[in-house]
Amino acid sequence: MKIRIAEDYDQMSTWAAELVAQQIKEKHNSVLGLATGSTPEGLYRLLVQMYQEGKLDFSHIITFNLDEYLGLAPTHPQSYAYFMHQHLLDHVNLKPENIHLPDGLAQDLDAFCQKYEEQIIAAGGIDLQVLGIGRNGHIGFNEPHHYLSVGTHTVRLTEDTIEANSRFFNSKDEVPHQAVTMGMGTILKAKKILLLANGKTKAKAIKDALCGRITTRIPASFLQLHRDITVIVDKEAASLL
Ligand code: GLP
Repeated sequence: MKIRIAEDYDQMSTWAAELVAQQIKEKHNSVLGLATGSTPEGLYRLLVQMYQEGKLDFSHIITFNLDEYLGLAPTHPQSYAYFMHQHLLDHVNLKPENIHLPDGLAQDLDAFCQKYEEQIIAAGGIDLQVLGIGRNGHIGFNEPHHYLSVGTHTVRLTEDTIEANSRFFNSKDEVPHQAVTMGMGTILKAKKILLLANGKTKAKAIKDALCGRITTRIPASFLQLHRDITVIVDKEAASLL
């Protein structure tokens, strides 16, 4: 595990963008696993900038997003699909058929989850998975529980996550209680993982995930088992390491 401690959010985002750009340049048809949330916003802004400057080509890149709220249409401003279009997908030359976003409105969710796993396998597996971390140690929407699921699945969100994510909604009542997410197995099968975290609110989760025992109570602790993971955190998120 490589851990890099950045001065601040901007440096974290710059280092992350350099790593993703290197992946895209080394393999022009890379399969990228993408995360939402405030953490990777700076990374996406820099990737868009590199594309606009002619330094990156996404025309053969394939993307799979980590998760989505159940019940939110892609046109809903708080859906993760909307976030991805706003921050990255609409601003680079990704082919629409190469973009995969979990469908929070799928009629048959079990069939959707199975198909999503099959699509990832058919694409050759994820080359680089970008991850943020919840303040309770979740990755994607793999929430702390007495067990974790392997493949893409639906999940009931914890009170802590609903509370943490309510900052993006008008009120806590509007936050969906369920989501669809890649599973721990889907994430751990990625060839490379890039975990990002910034700010004091993530310090405990980062300490527990990277330095503690592996436990389903801290889903991110399973990342310690991965062979090729880079963690880029700012000073505040690293303050308990
Ligand atoms: C959300 C998402 C995660 C994300 C995390 C942190 O609930 N499901 O994929 O990494 O929480 O979000 P943020 O970056 O906004 O702190």
